[in-house]
Amino acid sequence: MTIGVPKEIKIGETRVSMTPSLCRRCVSLGAKVLVEKFAGLRAGFADAEYRAAGATLVAAADKVWRTADVILKVKEPLAAEYDLLGEGQTIFTYLHLAAGPELTKVLLKKRILGIAYETVEGADGSFPLLKPMSQIAGRLSIQIGAYFLQSQHGGSGVLLGGIPGTMPGHVVVVGAGNSGAHAVQMAAGMGARVTVLDLDTRKLEALDTEYRGRVVTLMSNPANIESEVADADLLIGAVLIPAAKAPIVVSSKTVARMRPGSVIVDIAIDQGGCIESVHPTSHTTPTYQAHGVIHYAVPNMPALVGRTSTLGLTQATEPYVAMIVQKGVERALAEHKGLAKGVNTKDGQITYDAVAKALGYS
Ligand SMILES: NC(=O)c1ccc[n+]([C@@H]2O[C@H](COP(=O)([O-])OP(=O)(O)OC[C@H]3O[C@@H](n4cnc5c(N)ncnc54)[C@H](O)[C@@H]3O)[C@@H](O)[C@H]2O)c1
Repeated sequence: MTIGVPKEIKIGETRVSMTPSLCRRCVSLGAKVLVEKFAGLRAGFADAEYRAAGATLVAAADKVWRTADVILKVKEPLAAEYDLLGEGQTIFTYLHLAAGPELTKVLLKKRILGIAYETVEGADGSFPLLKPMSQIAGRLSIQIGAYFLQSQHGGSGVLLGGIPGTMPGHVVVVGAGNSGAHAVQMAAGMGARVTVLDLDTRKLEALDTEYRGRVVTLMSNPANIESEVADADLLIGAVLIPAAKAPIVVSSKTVARMRPGSVIVDIAIDQGGCIESVHPTSHTTPTYQAHGVIHYAVPNMPALVGRTSTLGLTQATEPYVAMIVQKGVERALAEHKGLAKGVNTKDGQITYDAVAKALGYS
């Protein structure tokens, strides 16, 4: 089996789908690994390290795409990569198809076996390949928010931790899953006032127990959202309905009630965003103002910390990649139910219900 590792081309992307260490494992299991030159450079991995691990370095991206049986990536293929996808090829990467109707059409037309990191399931129903990036995005969301709250960056000038005698900043986190819980941890650690809302009482109970009253937990309903968001200095959107388009949980009307110079970080933007006034931004122009509030909605936040993100991602993908190399794609999918849940497109069909529904295919 030949595994192809292209260089990521999304704006500001720094991650790579394979470390030299994972490369060594794949080669030892019998795979041929093609790595595009400089693919790992922004994550701190030099070409020489891949070569020493047994990879073949390739200068041209199209050679990697056209030769590989399995393309291993980080981000979904972008328009410039659509032509490179080979008929019937397998791609293992984040796909986020609910927010990508054009890409979906291409995958169906080319009968791509699209295995999406974000829907691979653990035995307990969790999403082990989404988790590390969500943890990173959650943690980053607070430092990004703190940065844009600074006056020189157009923010309201609120220091999240305050100082003795002043009111700390109010951080409101909607969604208490992986990204939300890690945002709460960072915000609480900085000394902010933190409110977290979710529909799942077990998630709220866990945070209540962990923080012993230092964090306010609230049921996510329109009344609580409206009152908390109106008082937020920093609002974090962190909701997810697996594989579906994110639900809008905060209306533009509610955003308009926030204080001028407050900040929104909508982590859920990769699934379409959970705040009505949000549209996707990029690492080159990460924010815009709407209703006097700074909006940040970069769909690949972990690229800001490419080294940590690459290590976090690949430690999660390694067992699945190794299984694919050892057994071949078809047998790995047949024998591992959790990996099979990752299949979003196959033989020209959408095979994941929530994606089909979100895109109007069912
Ligand atoms: N922007 C980025 O760079 C980036 C990086 C990683 C993850 N993400 C995205 O972040 C989002 C969250 O991922 P996660 O791993 O934290 O998901 P998760 O499943 O761990 O948590 C989502 C939480 O949202 C809650 N929820 C659902 N509907 C809600 C509602 N109406 N109100 C309040 N809570 C609600 C769920 O109960 C759950 O606790 C996903 O869209 C994921 O793809 C984005």
